[in-house]
Amino acid sequence: MSEELVNADIRLAKTLPSEFYTDEVHFESQRNAFRTTWQFMGASSQFMSAVSPLPHLDALLSEPLVRTNDGDEVRVLSNVCTHRGMVMCHEETDKKTLQCPYHGRTFGCDGRMKHMPGFEEALNFPTAADHLPVFHHAKWNGFEFMTVDAKVDLDAVLQPVHDRIGWFLDGLQYDASRDRDWDIAAHWMLYVDNYLEGFHIPFVHPELNDALANDGYATECFEHGVLQIGLAADGEVCFDPPEDSPDHGKNIAAYYWWIYPNMMFNVYPWGVSVNIVVPTSVETTRVLFRSYVKRADLLGQGAGAELDKVELQDQFVVENCMKGMRSSAYERGRYSPTHEQGVHHFHRMMTSLK
Ligand code: FES
Ligand SMILES: [Fe+2]
Repeated sequence: MSEELVNADIRLAKTLPSEFYTDEVHFESQRNAFRTTWQFMGASSQFMSAVSPLPHLDALLSEPLVRTNDGDEVRVLSNVCTHRGMVMCHEETDKKTLQCPYHGRTFGCDGRMKHMPGFEEALNFPTAADHLPVFHHAKWNGFEFMTVDAKVDLDAVLQPVHDRIGWFLDGLQYDASRDRDWDIAAHWMLYVDNYLEGFHIPFVHPELNDALANDGYATECFEHGVLQIGLAADGEVCFDPPEDSPDHGKNIAAYYWWIYPNMMFNVYPWGVSVNIVVPTSVETTRVLFRSYVKRADLLGQGAGAELDKVELQDQFVVENCMKGMRSSAYERGRYSPTHEQGVHHFHRMMTSLK
């Protein structure tokens, strides 16, 4: 892929060619981005059991994984038995061992093989290859992440988030009743493209538009993501940033953080809505919404209200753009230099040779 497929100068640049959204070969190479970045697992408080499978990461990474907690340490292990490759754990359990349901090989929470029937006469067994691979795991503000092969520390990736809204991120409580798993008939990058601009809000989201100030939308690009800020219309609920925040005194309705390539933290005065974008095929995507509530009394107010309605409005445009990507009459477009810096940044990231 050429670095200059998307010109660095947004005033000249053309958007990605439609084949990026329709072609299987592009789709497979885009999926590498998930293996080389940190991926969201959930809040630590969501994991109540010693052993928990991680199905959305299996779908995202084609990597069956299991989270273990032996009381001392949390680990992310391969969920694939080292004997003949069976996926072992399908449900949470409090047993502190993993036993393969195929021929009974057992592993500890640290991934070490403990027992294997019928192998008494096997020579040179077990070796390191008989233990389960352990993946990188990290915690951040009560949330957990894992990666197959990220080159950058999680803290470095999320530093701009911490610097800007770290003051807000304590006391968040997971609310399972707000879980949503949306299936969308569109390429996953169309979902991200749409997220990365507020340009469409007046056209697509009339109710949300009423909660935001008229000129109150700003985009900031970072090495690993994009921040969009929505300012509140008069009288709408907003944050009260402390004096040492660069946003002190501003009426901020929402911080919309996107972290490359598929993670969104929507921060509202009521708490945080995390969106995880999971491609399920070149033309289908599942988006997981997980909610962490800080001020239940503010739910249903301002820019963070009616998220289901806003989501369906977004899905309508994203699914129709997918139809447009397949049109022989459309190849690519141009960016608004004032409203689509985030989309441009994302496309530059996806076409860079890194
Ligand atoms: S595949 Fe797991 S014990 Fe045989
Ligand atoms: Fe939208």
